[in-house]
Amino acid sequence: MPDFATTDLTLAIAHHLLIFSLAGILAFEVGVIRLGMTREDFVRLARVDAWYGILAGAIIVVGFSRAIFAAKGWAYYSVNMFFWAKMAAFGAVGLLSIAPTMRIIRWRRALAGDAAFAPAPADIVKVRRFLWAEAAAFALIPAFAAAMARGYGSMAQ
Ligand code: HEM
Repeated sequence: MPDFATTDLTLAIAHHLLIFSLAGILAFEVGVIRLGMTREDFVRLARVDAWYGILAGAIIVVGFSRAIFAAKGWAYYSVNMFFWAKMAAFGAVGLLSIAPTMRIIRWRRALAGDAAFAPAPADIVKVRRFLWAEAAAFALIPAFAAAMARGYGSMAQ
């Protein structure tokens, strides 16, 4: 059984690596979803987007493991306003990712039935708006994390 410091360090490293990977996927999607996407772009996009959900799930597991079993403990985070703001921002990112994922699945299916398929330009513009909104909500999270880690926003009496 690893000691507390080792568990804390391991979870902190995993947390940061997962977060950077998710940010990388978001940046990839913003870069690749554009007018004039190629067939290869679609294939790569569908493959990469599947990782989005997997990484988000892993972030939830590792994040809550840190909050409950490591760092400062659940009694600290459960009464911290910035912790809950961070959870709300992460939830918003998740909700905003639903529409792009649905579109990507629909595009992949359409492409499987028709090799010449190209999405409507209006669809691409819409998906890009969702991706940028996700990026904006995502950017709030490290700010909330830094505040919560330093004891700002405590609602403890
Ligand atoms: C369910 C999701 C998440 C949970 C439960 C969670 C929980 C935590 C916990 C417990 C810490 C330790 C804070 C401390 O040292 O006191 C932490 C740190 C951190 N988290 Fe998360 N996290 C989640 C998702 C995210 C996401 C999506 C991001 C980035 C977009 C993020 C960014 C950070 C950063 C940058 C730190 C380091 C803060 C610092 O030490 O200044 N977290 N998180």
